[in-house]
Amino acid sequence: MAEKGILAFSGGLDTSVVVKYLQEEHGLDVVTVTVDVGQNDDKRAIAAKAKSLGVKRHYSIDARSEFVTDYVFPAIKANALYQGKYCLATALARPLIAQKVLEVARKENVSALAHGCTGKGNDQVRFDLALRSGSDLPIIAPIREKNLDRAAELEFARERGIKIETVAKRYSIDQNLWGRAIEGGDIEDPYTEPPDSAFAWVSTRDMPDSPAYVEISFERGVPTRIDGRRMGPRRIIEHLNERAGRAGVGIVDHIEDRTVGIKSREVYETPAAACLIEAHADLEKMVHTGRTGRFKRAVDEEWAYLAYAGLWQDPLRKCLDAFIEASQEPVTGTVRLRLHKGSLRVVGRKSGNSLYDQRRSTYGTGSTFDQRMASGFVEIWGMQLTEANKLQEARAEKS
Ligand code: ARG
Repeated sequence: MAEKGILAFSGGLDTSVVVKYLQEEHGLDVVTVTVDVGQNDDKRAIAAKAKSLGVKRHYSIDARSEFVTDYVFPAIKANALYQGKYCLATALARPLIAQKVLEVARKENVSALAHGCTGKGNDQVRFDLALRSGSDLPIIAPIREKNLDRAAELEFARERGIKIETVAKRYSIDQNLWGRAIEGGDIEDPYTEPPDSAFAWVSTRDMPDSPAYVEISFERGVPTRIDGRRMGPRRIIEHLNERAGRAGVGIVDHIEDRTVGIKSREVYETPAAACLIEAHADLEKMVHTGRTGRFKRAVDEEWAYLAYAGLWQDPLRKCLDAFIEASQEPVTGTVRLRLHKGSLRVVGRKSGNSLYDQRRSTYGTGSTFDQRMASGFVEIWGMQLTEANKLQEARAEKS
């Protein structure tokens, strides 16, 4: 019996080419794994595709709930936006997919791991490092190793009679529960506006004329209710994707720095992420001290960077998670959002743990804050800078 190789399989061109390559060039029997993280693909069609490629065994694993609770929720707690914009939908799914592949790899006793990533993107880094941190088996990455471009892959597929459904796909899409990424084609020109037809989740026209309001409640940093109604983790994300998407909320268009150094033009649809991160970060401001907030923003930035750059397994992430988890203890409360024709705005927040004290901050009469305390504070606060500037002036006069 031949030795076995395994790969995460989407049914698309890249991973189909890899299956054939493992069979032909490495003489391996191939095991494929499709991990459902909410990409909404036709599982039966993928299984049939695997079979038609002569795969020995195909696994289909539903990891949607795990994806939300173990990857998306930590990202919400970290207000995770890479370069201030990207909610990391693709990036967060990769370590989970790799972990599922490794589980099947052990069961199937395979002798090689493979993936269909190119050498230009972030996913090769994420898959390589995630697989590497759970196994010593060799990793085969044919697209990267052979330096194949799309035309070469299509030719390879054609020669072997592999059916490629949509010959002229306009964009390269990757989607899961947390977001939809749109790349390539005419929007590789960074000045070209994405056409309405590029979007599948967010309305770009015919949005409701009146604003929609949505109340999101959090318990210790985790979203648990929408408009007072308790909902399961996955349902909350799906609900907000639908509702905010209808109001035109959640499109991101930016220039992103890939881990390999290439700049890329990225377009995303991430309605639920836009709402949840905006609301969560807002609630934190109400319950955290200013110092905790300031420190946490630095931690959040680092967390997002690790998740993006394929460093999910770096021990630093666990250290950051420990801080983030501790910081979520008071993050319970409700945030009210206004969604209207593409705009998203927090218009209200409340929490039993609020540090906001209206009686203290009011400009009206009867404030509990005695202004006379402030002058001494300001003097002490600026003591060093006042002194330093005086000395500098004196030096400047002398010279
Ligand atoms: N730039 C994003 C990332 O690296 C999204 C990539 C999505 N891939 C795609 N084929 N559209 O996470």
